[in-house]
Amino acid sequence: MKKDLLTLSDVNASELKNIIFLAMKIKKKPYKFLHKLEYKNIILLFEKPSLRTRLSFEVGMKELGGDAIFYSKEHSTLGYKETYADFGKIASTYAAGIVCRLYEQRNVEEIALSTNKPVINALTNQHHPMQAIGDFMTIFEKKKKFNVTIAYLGDAKNNVTHSLMEAAKLLGAKINIACPPGYEPLKEIYEENKEHTEIFRKPEEAVANADVIYTDSWMSYQISPQLLQKRKKDLAKYQVNAALLAKAPPACLVMHCLPATRNQEITTEVLEGKQSIVFEQAANRLHSTKAVLLKMLR
Ligand code: CP
Ligand code: NVA
Repeated sequence: MKKDLLTLSDVNASELKNIIFLAMKIKKKPYKFLHKLEYKNIILLFEKPSLRTRLSFEVGMKELGGDAIFYSKEHSTLGYKETYADFGKIASTYAAGIVCRLYEQRNVEEIALSTNKPVINALTNQHHPMQAIGDFMTIFEKKKKFNVTIAYLGDAKNNVTHSLMEAAKLLGAKINIACPPGYEPLKEIYEENKEHTEIFRKPEEAVANADVIYTDSWMSYQISPQLLQKRKKDLAKYQVNAALLAKAPPACLVMHCLPATRNQEITTEVLEGKQSIVFEQAANRLHSTKAVLLKMLR
C-alpha cells in the first residue's frame, strides 16, 4: 500500500479487493479486531459537514482500540494564519495519521506531502474514495461479484461519481452515466476511465441492463444554494423514481451515498422501497473504514 489514500488511483486492484474482503471479515467478527490499533490516535480535519464519514472514523478508531480527535476548520488557524502544509507537519507529530474532508484536492495533497504519516481523503470536491470502497463492499455482498454495471444518474461532475469510476476500473465494473450536458465527470478523470464509462443522455438507456442504479445529491456540499432552481430544472429528467426503476431489470438494486434530498434526486418511495440498499450501504461505511484504517495505520 502507498503511504496515502488520496484517490483510488493510489491503490491497485488486489489492494482494493483485500480492503473489501477485510471489511467483510471485520463486519462478521468485529471483536477479533478490538485491540489492533491500541494507543493510536488520528486527527480528523473537516472543512465540510458529515454524518457517516465522521462517525465511521470516530467509532471505527475506538472499536479498534485507538481514538480520533475531531478538528473542525471553523475553530482552526487554517487558511489565514497557517498553511495546509504547516497543519500537516504539526498535526502529524501528535498522531498516527490524518484524515481530511476538504474542499480542494490540492490541499489534501499538500498535507500528504508535508508528512511521512498516512493521510486519508475523507472527501474533497473531486474525490470520495472511502465512499466507493464501502459501495463496492455492499455490491459484492449483494451480487457476489465486482464486475457489475452501475447506472449513475444526475450530477456526474461529482466526487462520488469520480471515485466510483476509479473503483470500477480496478474491479472490472462498468459505469453508465446519464446526465445533462455540463454535468459530465471532470475531463481528466473521464479520460483515465473512458474504457469502462459510457455517457448517456436518456436515463432509460443507462438503466436498461443495470445491476445497480446509483444517484447522489444535486446540491453537493460545495454547490452554492443560489444554483438550486437551475439544477432542479436541469436534472429533473434524471430523478430516480418508480417509473425509471421499472425500466431496469427486476433484480436491479438502488444505491445512494447519502445524505439524500427526498423527492429531489430520488423519490422517498424508491429510497425506502424493496430494491433500495441505501441503509445497508451506509452501515457498511463503518466496516470499510475500519479496514482502511487497519491497512494504513499498522
Ligand atoms: N456519504 C457520506 O460521506 O456521508 P457524510 O457526508 O454524512 O459523511
Ligand atoms: N457529492 C456529495 C457527497 C456527499 C457524501 C457531496 O460532496 O456533498
